[in-house]
Amino acid sequence: MECKYLNFHGLLLPRIAHSEESIKYFENFQVNDDDVFAITYPKSGTTWMQEILPLILNGGDFTPVKTIPNWDRVPWLEETRAALVMDKMTPPRLMVSHMPYEFMPPSFFSSKAKAIYVARNPKDVLVSSFFFHQMATFLDDPGTFDEFVDTFLAGQVLFGKWTDHVKSWRKADLGDRILYVTYEEMVKDLKGVVRRFSDFLGQKMSEETLEQVVSHCSFNTMKTNAMSNYSLVPQEVMDTKKSTFLRKGISGDWKNHFSPEQEEKFTAAIREELRGSNIPFPWD
Ligand code: PPS
Repeated sequence: MECKYLNFHGLLLPRIAHSEESIKYFENFQVNDDDVFAITYPKSGTTWMQEILPLILNGGDFTPVKTIPNWDRVPWLEETRAALVMDKMTPPRLMVSHMPYEFMPPSFFSSKAKAIYVARNPKDVLVSSFFFHQMATFLDDPGTFDEFVDTFLAGQVLFGKWTDHVKSWRKADLGDRILYVTYEEMVKDLKGVVRRFSDFLGQKMSEETLEQVVSHCSFNTMKTNAMSNYSLVPQEVMDTKKSTFLRKGISGDWKNHFSPEQEEKFTAAIREELRGSNIPFPWD
């Protein structure tokens, strides 16, 4: 049986959306100074950023988020769609990436492009990823939850270890070109975070537009947006009888899935790997 993943420097990338050519395109991509990146480890808020960022950059024009699928609206730079849509984008170009910092294209480092890094409680990332593996037929079956805890901790999951990803982007020597936020801050105070994003990106937004953006980017509204809820993807590729892509959209769902033993083991392993890195760990 053909392997479902491409191996890029030890990172597993799903073949459905990545190829040797797409990786070459990513590595040779010429980053412009006005490009904007949202960087995430998978299941940390990527789709949410694909909804929010265009609205900030285009002054609250809702046409793109209502007419263009998220993967073409704000493409993943490492995915096969990027080469098809990037040339047609007008500046400032918006893109997302799951890549660790060290693998970014060389032109990213010499540019003035900005990046927003969204991190999420790794326990909720794991839960979200577990259900995603169950519904996405282009990924391996996750096995039992207990088995998946080990798979996740071993980094045998998409884009490698969570701790390596957050560490790589915390080391990023980007000064004020990078903004760090958490998924949990977005859940708690989306309005405040959208305001932070627009300040960071140098965009003015009226209070009225801000309210409209926040309302449009709520979990319940995004769940009904066919351009963002993955309902355009055939059932054979994402089996919505097993789970939905926009599944719960909350923080703390891990409490419904981790046993006390699993939680203890998981948190100890994560904390050990973050030790000495000075990375804030704002999650219980
Ligand atoms: S992916 O596959 O990496 O692109 O997935 P990603 O979009 O990063 O993460 C999917 C999780 O983000 C949740 N999500 C949201 N939560 C709250 N509000 C909004 N608007 C929102 N949009 C997406 C989505 O539901 C997934 O989390 P879970 O916990 O599975 O619900």
